[in-house]
Amino acid sequence: MSSGRYLLHHGLLMPTVAHSEESLKYAENFLVKDTDVFVVTYPKSGTTWMQEILPLVLNGGDLTPVQTIPNWDRVPWLEETRTALVVDCLPSPRALVTHLPYHLMPASFYSSKAKVIYVMRNPKDVMVSSFHFHKMASFLDDPGTFQEFMEKFLEGQVLFGKWTDHVKSWRHTELGDRILYITYEEMVQDLHGALRHFSDFLGSNLSEEAIQRIAEHCYFNNMKTNSMSNYSLVPQEIMDSSKSAFLRKGIAGDWKNHFGPEQEVRFSSVIRGEMEGESFLFPWDLE
Ligand code: A3P
Repeated sequence: MSSGRYLLHHGLLMPTVAHSEESLKYAENFLVKDTDVFVVTYPKSGTTWMQEILPLVLNGGDLTPVQTIPNWDRVPWLEETRTALVVDCLPSPRALVTHLPYHLMPASFYSSKAKVIYVMRNPKDVMVSSFHFHKMASFLDDPGTFQEFMEKFLEGQVLFGKWTDHVKSWRHTELGDRILYITYEEMVQDLHGALRHFSDFLGSNLSEEAIQRIAEHCYFNNMKTNSMSNYSLVPQEIMDSSKSAFLRKGIAGDWKNHFGPEQEVRFSSVIRGEMEGESFLFPWDLE
């Protein structure tokens, strides 16, 4: 790990390109409003997709914000440096994303009525997506071989630590009906249905016509062309889309094109071992 590129926050690796001691202090002291909506993800689980979806679900399907404001300012990451700069411009209800585990949320969050949508993705696809992301992002260390990166991923020597710790932390909360769980795979399979869930959960009362319009805009092939969301505004030296596009494939199951049989067995057995005793089910096969 090259020094300078990362900082450690409560044992979690974060890239200094977007995080600083100040931004993390700011997040810690953030005053959460009851009307706030947080999307929580482990990195590479569909964060950017939700930065597109959420403003549309909250505003009734008006495309203006997603066509005019870059995703990082439209739905900022609580822990990143941009939030302090843009927070006063956010419409109400405010939409934010975060990769923080449950116990590192701001103190005011726990006693608030803010809602949470937690998006989980098959960890094999998360790892594949992250592997390609590390190749194209010059602010991250080279991932090495796929095998090397897999070992780092399983040890939690990657951004925001272990996948299993993250998903477990957000399953053991006292949030009750303040939190909605959904998977990336469910969204890929039935985006329309997912949007209906979000609308019901957030009380947006969207018409079928509005849901259809939002779905059309947010399908991978359409969203991929939105310069406010596909990271084409970021200079090539920082994110090199000739190595891998940020909106890369947008499918469930790409891991099958990357994992060898032994890697698959090892990966599944580590994840299964760490999830032992957990009562929630995965919508994918961990065998
Ligand atoms: P792939 O690399 O597997 O294609 P994050 O935003 O959390 O970093 O996650 C990035 C992943 O979400 C990428 O996965 C990206 O292609 C995928 N993604 C982004 N927008 C999407 C969309 N509209 N539909 C499906 N997947 C999407």
